[in-house]
Amino acid sequence: MERPDYAALIATARSAREHAYVPYSRFAVGAAVITASGKIFPGCNIENAAYPVTLCAERVALFSAYAAGEREIVAMAVITPTDDVASPCGACRQVMLELAPRSSVLLLNLQAVERWTTPHELLPHGFGAGQLDEAGSSG
Ligand code: THU
Repeated sequence: MERPDYAALIATARSAREHAYVPYSRFAVGAAVITASGKIFPGCNIENAAYPVTLCAERVALFSAYAAGEREIVAMAVITPTDDVASPCGACRQVMLELAPRSSVLLLNLQAVERWTTPHELLPHGFGAGQLDEAGSSG
């Protein structure tokens, strides 16, 4: 596949922030994923008065791509309104490892400070399907 359109990916993540539903934290996060077919899916964080059921921008973007039938995520971008780039939460790392294991992850702030990483770098030694297969007789 040719080089992903990173400019479009970043622009989508940036504009996704405008749809963030963040009445509690006021911390709007934007994300976007690009698939092997070149399609881009946005995500924003969506909060809830029952705080723990909030969904982060990263998972919304990934779930949205999967819901559209996409399975090969090439890259994702995440934009936070922070001084430095912010790191995805543990739940999102777990989901990224399973749904986008070979992807490049670009973390940005609003001033375009950026850092490249990967799901494996974000969650080394993560739990995955392989461990379920190893359950054997003791499981
Ligand atoms: N949040 C994200 O959407 N992504 C991150 O990487 C960090 C945290 C959201 C969850 C919550 O709506 C708000 O930011 C504050 O934690």
